[in-house]
Amino acid sequence: MQSEVERLLNAAARDISKTAGNLKVLEQLKVNYLGRKGNLAQLFKRMGEATETQRPVWGKLLNEAKESLEKAFSNALEEAGKLSREQRKFFDITVPGRRPSKGRLHPITQITLEISRIFNWLGFEVVEGPEVELDYYNFEALNIPRDHPARDMQDTFYVSDDVVLRTHTSPLQVRVMEKRRPPIRVIAPGRTYRCDSDVTHTPMFHQVEGLMVGEDISFGDLKGILTIFVHHMFGADVGLRFRPSFFPFTEPSAEVDIQCVMCKGQGCRVCSQTGWLEILGSGMVDPEVFKMVGYDPETVTGFAFGMGIERIAMLKYGIDDLRLFFENDLRFLRQF
Ligand code: FA5
Ligand code: MG
Repeated sequence: MQSEVERLLNAAARDISKTAGNLKVLEQLKVNYLGRKGNLAQLFKRMGEATETQRPVWGKLLNEAKESLEKAFSNALEEAGKLSREQRKFFDITVPGRRPSKGRLHPITQITLEISRIFNWLGFEVVEGPEVELDYYNFEALNIPRDHPARDMQDTFYVSDDVVLRTHTSPLQVRVMEKRRPPIRVIAPGRTYRCDSDVTHTPMFHQVEGLMVGEDISFGDLKGILTIFVHHMFGADVGLRFRPSFFPFTEPSAEVDIQCVMCKGQGCRVCSQTGWLEILGSGMVDPEVFKMVGYDPETVTGFAFGMGIERIAMLKYGIDDLRLFFENDLRFLRQF
């Protein structure tokens, strides 16, 4: 019996090493050796042939064999389990990779940068100011007193009696002139807010303010700069027109329309069938505004303009509904 038990143990050790850590094969092997009809069970059956003196010796041999087999299998199974976890981590370099999706700038940001580049090239510096603004800068210093009907031109979000969400970027005119002396050439891009919503209006939108102040700045300079800008932005063949208008802080004032690029001037829902789309308001800085910042209106002149960035983006990319810019639909935003 002793030699048979030894043979069994040696065979088991050999078979276990042949499985090379394959879990399934190992489990089957364990059944073959330790199962109810397995090799060890066959030896136990032979206890019946044992003599009185052999019985305790064989019993001891077989029980020790059982213990050592169980130990051998449980070690081998544990090793094999670790191995298969390692194998699961195996990295197959032939599997095609998943492309990481890159972020990109929002179309409004792209247009803002492009506008800034053109004006930088024309000698304008970029400045910024607060979106939560004092009534004083948003209205009063711009020659729009509290009871003035011009306040109704813009539907204002009031934070308190004296504080508003800026309705335009024009407060920057005052903020810059308060701090500096002419000559001044700045643009001020940023968010603005109005209680407004349809295909060409959103409650939050972006403007770029422009301000140029010095000696002998004329309406001709205003027309020249804005025409150069439009031609660089949209191409030299896009028509633009200066239309007389009114702003309390400029005199004379003009609004600039460009030919609707959606319908090539034929008339569509974007341009309300007119063939033109307003992109900005502008004019010569009103002497009253110069007085507010302590400039002498007799010696300095200047012009200012305020441009709607979404309108520019709309025309540039041929988008017929402004609200798309703010719905964060990635299918839309990925196109730019
Ligand atoms: C103004 O805001 C003046 N501050 C512009 C100005 C500046 C005039 C300096 C003179 C001197 P207006 O309200 O027209 O003007 O707006 C200017 C531009 O902002 C419009 O031409 C339009 O392009 C854009 N805009 C106005 N409201 C909205 C809105 N709700 N959504 C999107 N764009 C708008
Ligand atoms: Mg307007």
